[in-house]
Amino acid sequence: MLTSKHILLIIGGGIAAYKALDLIRKLRERGASVTPVLTRAGEEFVTPLSVGALAGVAVHRDLFDLNKEAEMGHIQLSRSADLVVVAPATADLMGKMAGGLANDLASTLLLATDTPVLLAPAMNVRMWEHAATVRNRAQLVADGIGFVGPNEGNMACGEYGPGRMAEPLEIVAAIESALADGPLVGRRVLVTSGPTHEPIDPVRYIANRSSGAQGAAIATALAALGAEVVFVTGPAVVAPPDGVAVERVESAREMEAAVKASLPVDAAVFAAAVADWRVKNASMRKLKKTKGGLPVLEFAENPDILAGVAQMGEGRPALVVGFAAETDDVVANATAKRLRKGCDWIVANDVSPETGIMGGQENAVVLISDQGVEEWPRMAKVEVARQLAARIAAALG
Ligand code: CTP
Repeated sequence: MLTSKHILLIIGGGIAAYKALDLIRKLRERGASVTPVLTRAGEEFVTPLSVGALAGVAVHRDLFDLNKEAEMGHIQLSRSADLVVVAPATADLMGKMAGGLANDLASTLLLATDTPVLLAPAMNVRMWEHAATVRNRAQLVADGIGFVGPNEGNMACGEYGPGRMAEPLEIVAAIESALADGPLVGRRVLVTSGPTHEPIDPVRYIANRSSGAQGAAIATALAALGAEVVFVTGPAVVAPPDGVAVERVESAREMEAAVKASLPVDAAVFAAAVADWRVKNASMRKLKKTKGGLPVLEFAENPDILAGVAQMGEGRPALVVGFAAETDDVVANATAKRLRKGCDWIVANDVSPETGIMGGQENAVVLISDQGVEEWPRMAKVEVARQLAARIAAALG
């Protein structure tokens, strides 16, 4: 779960540098941005072109690059990251760090940074076991530097022993746990999102205008606070965020099954626009035009997923948050809805077409709880999500 995390990745000069390319891909797949720094020796193993292409940004290579100093000096470069990762961390880089040397871009960044640093060492087994490296490692551990690996195994040089760089997925896991420091670490939260599609026949369905933007933003914000997020989404326009467990469903009944399967959770946020009714006489075959005849659809009520979870006895999440999309008497309707459904909070919004909220980027919500009614100013859905996630974190203690 690395959405919006920024990693400064220093690639040292070792054969394991090729694994750093895969590491960049895996970090970006999880939503992180990567600023790569290549040492002179690193350039002997991987090219700035491959590193830059995979990272999607230019590679930093030179301490005395005046252009880059004008755009972003090395001090800022070292401090704008959430985490500095050195992979591979060579014996030379470890030695410089332990001794406080700063004679190239990588070592200068490592001395100038005030963000946490994680090293993935890679070197020949004799070098790893050398008294100097053992000393340097102990010093770095004492300085608060994190380590992942090295692993034991066959080495590129033909020897066997500890010194192989940790695999990219192991480094990703170490990065995730190094960054997991939010108030929701250890908390599991369910978010439903998007519309549902209720089939009429195999090709037609009844839907609604929900884009899934608010639900996706809430999942992102909760994950950014460290929560393990289960994201149950109908067919939304907005893609699900990276770094959350995604369960894709179509109909309300499928959503209900996915929600039940996700329990137990500490908190559940029901942002989905669930269809209240499904077509009772949905056809297994495509409906054909018949002369003079019009199809007649019969409806059946869908299960109320929110009410089901809010009113469950044992295993009820500590906090159940519902949404209310209203066009009239927002506060009165939403207040009644909170009591009817049995949820702790209702986040109500006015979805009248003139508000532009449904399918738009902004939202103006009213938070209704047993503490009363709070009207929030109109703001970006992402900001509503951030503030709601912070409130959820506070409520869960
Ligand atoms: N919801 C749900 N399952 C349903 C219908 C709604 O979980 N079958 C959830 C939504 O995700 C939302 C809340 O209930 O959090 C409010 O949904 P809404 O459709 O506004 O409420 P209704 O009870 O359908 O009330 P009405 O349509 O009368 O406004």
